[in-house]
Amino acid sequence: MSVKRIAFANQKGGVGKSTICTQLAFYLRERDKQRVLVVDMDAQGNSTSTLTHGEDPSGTLANELFKTEAFDLQPMTTDSGIDLIGSRKNDREGYDVEALPLELVGLPRQHLESIWDNYNYVLIDCPPSLGRKLLAALLAVKYVVSPIKLSGYAVDGLAGLFETLYDVKENYNEELEILGAIVNEYDRSAAHNVSLANVREAIPDLVFQHHLQHRSPIDTATMVGQPVWKVRNGRAAAEEFKAVFEELKAKIASSAQ
Ligand SMILES: Nc1ncnc2c1ncn2[C@@H]1O[C@H](COP(=O)(O)OP(=O)(O)O)[C@@H](O)[C@H]1O
Ligand SMILES: [Mg+2]
Repeated sequence: MSVKRIAFANQKGGVGKSTICTQLAFYLRERDKQRVLVVDMDAQGNSTSTLTHGEDPSGTLANELFKTEAFDLQPMTTDSGIDLIGSRKNDREGYDVEALPLELVGLPRQHLESIWDNYNYVLIDCPPSLGRKLLAALLAVKYVVSPIKLSGYAVDGLAGLFETLYDVKENYNEELEILGAIVNEYDRSAAHNVSLANVREAIPDLVFQHHLQHRSPIDTATMVGQPVWKVRNGRAAAEEFKAVFEELKAKIASSAQ
């Protein structure tokens, strides 16, 4: 089985990219016993903090994936057994990468190729922007999913996001499979249901059947760097994650390998 490479992308912050990326990593590692590499492309370093319990990451850092020369990639292994190419919290260099010339966006893929066969899954957490690092991540993966939050403006942001994803598929990475949008922090209110209907109309067939609700144990899990099923009162959230992650795995299994 070849490695499955998935990016978590949305130009909005706070929609759940890092949360879903790290919880999926825990799920695949602990439940499915898979070898998982997380690449934290966001200079805010939130996924890194979750996986290292707030420590600075060691080993190769995500910025180094933009080096023009070949080098030995050495991801750090975190205590949960998930490997990580991390970002230091608010590292200036991480933001400077956004100013790199467009020709260099293919470099992370080239470097990652040298190690990705060591893994069953490579999960790339993306920054909240439509810049160079997002493009680099989308060039390095086969699959992309977008966590979204429902609101009156949800559809406006989505149209731009999915246009970008299809543009990248058409012009830069034809293997890219756009798996769709995971609704996060759904609250079943009338307002959310209206917004959900609008989102479904804007991106037909691309909205995951299963949603994640707002549940405070998820926030706790992110902060303490644990799978949500190990957090007090985390059971309902864990069930919802499981449904979403199994749906994601099924989508990958049914897409052309
Ligand atoms: N379903 C949820 N229920 C409760 N808190 C959540 C949920 N999803 C995300 N959060 C919290 O919201 C914040 C933003 O999520 P995060 O994953 O960091 O977003 P992004 O990576 O898209 O910027 C984090 O503090 C996270 O713990
Ligand atoms: Mg994030």
